[in-house]
Amino acid sequence: MIYVNNLGVRFPDRILFDDVNLTFSPGNCYGVIGANGAGKTTFLKILSGEKEATSGDITIAKDSRMSILKQDHFAFDDYTVLDTVIIGNKRLYDIREEKNAIYAKEDFNEADGIRASELEAEFAELNGWEAESEAGILLQGLGIENSLHEKYMRELTGNEKVKVLLAQALFGNPDILLLDEPTNDLDIKAVLWLEDFLSTFEGIVIVVSHDRYFLNEVCTHMVDIDFGKINIFTGNYDFWYESSQLALQMAKDRNKAKEEKIKELQAFIAKFSANKSKSKQATSRKKLLDKISLDDIRPSTRKYPFVGFTLSREVGNEILNVENLTKVADGTVLIDNLNFRVNKNEKIAFIGNELAITALFEILEGHDTDFEGEFKWGQTITHSYFPKDNNDFFENVDLNLIDWLRQYSEEQSQIYLQGFLGKMLFSGDDALKKAKVLSGGERVRMMFSRMMLTPSNALIFDQPTNHLDLESITAVNNGLISFKGNILFTSKDHQFIDTIANRIIEILPDGSSRDKTTSYNEYLEEYYVKQ
Ligand SMILES: Nc1ncnc2c1ncn2[C@@H]1O[C@H](COP(=O)(O)OP(=O)(O)OP(=O)(O)O)[C@@H](O)[C@H]1O
Ligand SMILES: [Mg+2]
Repeated sequence: MIYVNNLGVRFPDRILFDDVNLTFSPGNCYGVIGANGAGKTTFLKILSGEKEATSGDITIAKDSRMSILKQDHFAFDDYTVLDTVIIGNKRLYDIREEKNAIYAKEDFNEADGIRASELEAEFAELNGWEAESEAGILLQGLGIENSLHEKYMRELTGNEKVKVLLAQALFGNPDILLLDEPTNDLDIKAVLWLEDFLSTFEGIVIVVSHDRYFLNEVCTHMVDIDFGKINIFTGNYDFWYESSQLALQMAKDRNKAKEEKIKELQAFIAKFSANKSKSKQATSRKKLLDKISLDDIRPSTRKYPFVGFTLSREVGNEILNVENLTKVADGTVLIDNLNFRVNKNEKIAFIGNELAITALFEILEGHDTDFEGEFKWGQTITHSYFPKDNNDFFENVDLNLIDWLRQYSEEQSQIYLQGFLGKMLFSGDDALKKAKVLSGGERVRMMFSRMMLTPSNALIFDQPTNHLDLESITAVNNGLISFKGNILFTSKDHQFIDTIANRIIEILPDGSSRDKTTSYNEYLEEYYVKQ
């Protein structure tokens, strides 16, 4: 069990949440939802002890172990796969590192000898000699083959990385599993795999996600962060959503008698639980639903940012021409002789091998010059890029949001920059907070502001929907549909791809490619459904 007592987090300018009282029980899977910046990651960090709350406390049974899979999937890029897993037992990893450092010394003295023997004893006690083989077995079980175990994390696909990070979390043999947006880098197959995995995990799972489908599949409870409060609701995401919408509608409609409202809601609850009668947990869930009262449900207040890109100028005939492009990384052929020419009005979705797609975008942006073949942007083209990994833009940067944005703007006035921030829902004092404290989704919104500042006529996006809440995804989706220039992009969001792209280029596992002028659904129909 986890007991949260009177928990509060306050920043100088703002209360994130306060008076939070919650209980989490084993066997349940809790889905944490809330807008970007609502405090989901902060809440998980407080549960795991990484951050301190301003007030209140958390009680967890003494002997229960807790592991966390963090929102930043790039954090271990410079570690090998095996080491990343072993870090899951931090003490063991630290001992091993200190021990190895002592043995590597040339002037090994007596004190070093004593220290080394102390470390050896603790290492053996923690079963250190078994660690590598245990980590290996765990990885194998998650489908990470032996050939990958000595590779660096940066050489892995997003899918593989998340599995390794999960192995890291499981390495400590936890009773409580905290997962912060685990589905961000996963493809559909891997998400299904994670759903299965979580449904058989017996401890407490607390998972942050913006993926409706995933939340519906795995969660028994929703933890909603809104209005500066955190509340637990029984049921999955759909149930929470429908009932909060209904509550909102009722709150607006003040003419109706209160009893009538209650009746309506009860009818809805009855209908909903009947609909779900086929689901696995039907009986227990139905019991829980019966307990829900009107007071448990509150309307939600989510806001939509505005995303719109200005066209710099009409494009000429030459937009982008790629010829015989080949990219090999760490001995693997990512792209094998790729040829394509971008035509007017084309919005191209790249699907398939994500490492290859990121490599291609980095080449087209001039960030990576280690390739064969050629590419040429047209004279009239100004292109703008949204990279998948934005850590470099924010870490160790001591600027507030206005000054952060000013770095990328010709027009330097405060009012002008505030206008852009306002569209991205950073209004008033929000604009004065430090860029480095931003949440995952807030960083993405800043990256969009940066792109929106400079008019261009070709946009490249590498996974723009990762980290964003549903409202922001909708805003980005609409912004890209209405953009009048060219777009090259990749995303894992089905609807997003289908509503934006009119051409699909798939990079296959061997580096070869397939190129079709068609919608995403038609493409899938042709190559994946028919076969
Ligand atoms: N030291 C600080 N001072 C002021 N604000 C802060 C500080 N640290 C964090 N914040 C703010 O707290 C809020 C909560 O951040 P958190 O990372 O918990 O959000 P989140 O719900 O996980 O969002 P996302 O869905 O984008 O990942 C954000 O608005 C963030 O900018
Ligand atoms: Mg977060």
